Amino acid sequence: MANAKLRHKIPKRFSRKSEVAKAKERLNATYLIAMISTNKGETVSIVLDGEEVEVPTGINLVDAAALFKKEIPHYCYHPQLSVAGNCRMCLIEMGTPMRDRGTGEPVLNDDGTQKIGWVPKPVIGCATTVSPGMHVKTISEKVTDCREGIMEFLLVNHPLDCPICDQAGECRLQEFATDYGRGYSRYVERKNVKPKRTRLGPRVTLDDERCILCSRCIRFSQEVAKDDVLGFVDRGSYSTLSCFPGRELENNYSLNTVDICPVGALTSTDFRFKMRVWFLKELPSICAESSAGCNIMVSSREGEIHRITPRRNDNVNDSWMTDSGRLLYKQVRSDNRLLTPQVKQSESALDVAISSAFESFNGKKLAIVGSCHSTLEELYLLNHLSKATKAKKYLRGHFGEDDGILLSADRSPNLRGTLLSGFTNEYPKEDLSKLNDDLKKGVVDAVLVVNEDLLDSGVEGESLLGVPVTYLGTHQNTTSNLAEIVIPTLTSFEKKGTFINRSFIAQGFASTVPSPGGLLPLTQIICRLLSLSDEESKITADFSLIWKNLSSPPKSPFKGMTFTDALRGPLQIDGSKWNNLSFVEKKALHFEPQSSALSSK
Ligand code: SF4
Ligand code: FES
Repeated sequence: MANAKLRHKIPKRFSRKSEVAKAKERLNATYLIAMISTNKGETVSIVLDGEEVEVPTGINLVDAAALFKKEIPHYCYHPQLSVAGNCRMCLIEMGTPMRDRGTGEPVLNDDGTQKIGWVPKPVIGCATTVSPGMHVKTISEKVTDCREGIMEFLLVNHPLDCPICDQAGECRLQEFATDYGRGYSRYVERKNVKPKRTRLGPRVTLDDERCILCSRCIRFSQEVAKDDVLGFVDRGSYSTLSCFPGRELENNYSLNTVDICPVGALTSTDFRFKMRVWFLKELPSICAESSAGCNIMVSSREGEIHRITPRRNDNVNDSWMTDSGRLLYKQVRSDNRLLTPQVKQSESALDVAISSAFESFNGKKLAIVGSCHSTLEELYLLNHLSKATKAKKYLRGHFGEDDGILLSADRSPNLRGTLLSGFTNEYPKEDLSKLNDDLKKGVVDAVLVVNEDLLDSGVEGESLLGVPVTYLGTHQNTTSNLAEIVIPTLTSFEKKGTFINRSFIAQGFASTVPSPGGLLPLTQIICRLLSLSDEESKITADFSLIWKNLSSPPKSPFKGMTFTDALRGPLQIDGSKWNNLSFVEKKALHFEPQSSALSSK
C-alpha cells in the first residue's frame, strides 16, 4: 500500500510541472480556434474562476474557458459536431445569481452582493451555454476529484500500452492521464478483451479495446460525411464500435474519424506504425486536389512527407479534408516524377535547358498552355511571358463530380487564379481542341506547356509534328515524352505561392519540404525565359513585387493586400467581376455558388 501511495504521488507531482508547457501549447491552439469561430458581435458577462469576463453569446463553457486560456479537458465534445455529453470529462462547477422565487428580486449576501446558487453537482461544460452572470469554476477540489474519477473509469478497460500505441504523442487520454490519472490502478478484474486490428474500411483500422466510446466518429459519419455507417453494439462495458452489417467505412472522408478519435482506437492503415509523431515536422499548406482549397498540415521527417492532415479553417474546410487529398503527397516521390532537365531526350543542365527552350520558340508563333494547377504568382509571370513573346494563351479545366462537401467539381486548385492573374478572362473548356485547330491552321508553330498533357487534352499527335514543344512540369506524361525540352518543376509541397479557391478566398502557402536538388521554382524559370525574351524586362520572381504589381491598379481586387497577408490567413477577394461565368461547382460546405461575389460586396 505504501508503495502504491508513493507511485501515485511521485509521477503526479512531477507530471503536473512538466505538463505546464504542453498544456499551454494545447490551450494556445484551442484559444486561437475559439477566437475564429465565435460571434464577436454579442457578448455576455460571466465570472470565470472569480474573474469577470465578456464572452460571445451562444458558446459553451469549454469554448468560453478556452478564450481565456483555461483548458476544460474533454473527449467527446468537438466544436464542429453535435454535443453528445457522454464522456463526462468536462465536468465543472457552475452557479447562477439567485433570485427570490416569489418576487423575482435578487437574493443578496450580507455584504450586499448577489448570492450565487451553485448547482450542487458538477455540470458538463460542453453542454452548458454561457448565460449572463453565470459563475464557473474550471478548477476546484471537486472538479479535480471528478476528473480523476472519470479518468479512472475510462482507464478501467483501456489498455495501458502507450509505448506501442500509434496515438502516443498526440493522445488526449495519455495527456490527461498525466494530469488527472491516479498513477496506479485499483482495478483487479480482468480487462475486457475487444477486437484488435479490425478492418473498418480500406483506409481505417480499429483497435476496439482502446475505444472510450466518445461517439465522435459516429457523429462525424452521420453529420459531416452523411454516411451513417458506424454504431455501437452491445451494452455497458461490452459496448463496441462496429460498422453496420454488410457495410464498410469507405467514404472519401473516412480518415477524418482517425483525426478526431481522441485515443488510439481508430488508426490510418497507411500511416499506422510507420512513424512516431514526435519525429514529424508539421508545416501548414493548402491542398491542391480541388478548388475547395482545404487547409492542411504537412508532416514530414528529413524532407520526406509521411502524412497530410486537415488544418482547421471555419470559412473553408472546418476541420476536415478528403481521403483522396491526403494521398497527394505520394506524388512527390513517385516513380514518374521528373527530376532532370532534358534537351532532345538527353539529360542536360538546367541553364542549357532554359536557353534551349528560348531558342526553340524564339521568332516563332508561340502557344503558351497555362495550368489551373499553377499558383497565382506563376500565372501572373506566365501572362507577362506571353506578352513578351506575343504568344497566344491556352488553358484547359479539369472537371469531375461535385460531392457537396470538400471535393468540388473543379479538380484544380487555382482556376480563379487564372482569372485574377490576368492570364485569361474566359472560363476554360475541358480540352485544348482550340490549340489543336490553331496548330493545324499554322496559327501557332511552337508550344510551351505547363503541367498539362496535350495528347490527353484533344491535341492530336499529327498536329504536333515538327512543332517544338517545351514541357514545364512535375511528372512524366505523353507530352513530356514527345517534348523537345523538358524542364522539371516543383510540386505544391516544395514551393510557395497562392491559390484562390471556389469562394474567391486567396490562401498563401510556403514550401513544406525541400525541393529535389538542382531544380528551380517555376516562377524563377519563367523569369529567366522572360529576361531572355525581353532584355529590358524588370519583372522578377520576388513575391512582394509580384503582389505589389497585382494590387497597384486602381480597381485591383488585391488592393492593400500582400503575399505575407495571404500567408497569414485567408483573404476574401471580390470575384463579382466574373459572376457571368458558369463555374461548375455546386453548393457545398462553406460554398454557395457565386456567394463569394455577393459576400464581398
Ligand atoms: S473509436 Fe475513437 S472516436 Fe470512435 S467512439 Fe471510440 S474513442 Fe471515440
Ligand atoms: S466533453 Fe463534455 S461530456 Fe464529453
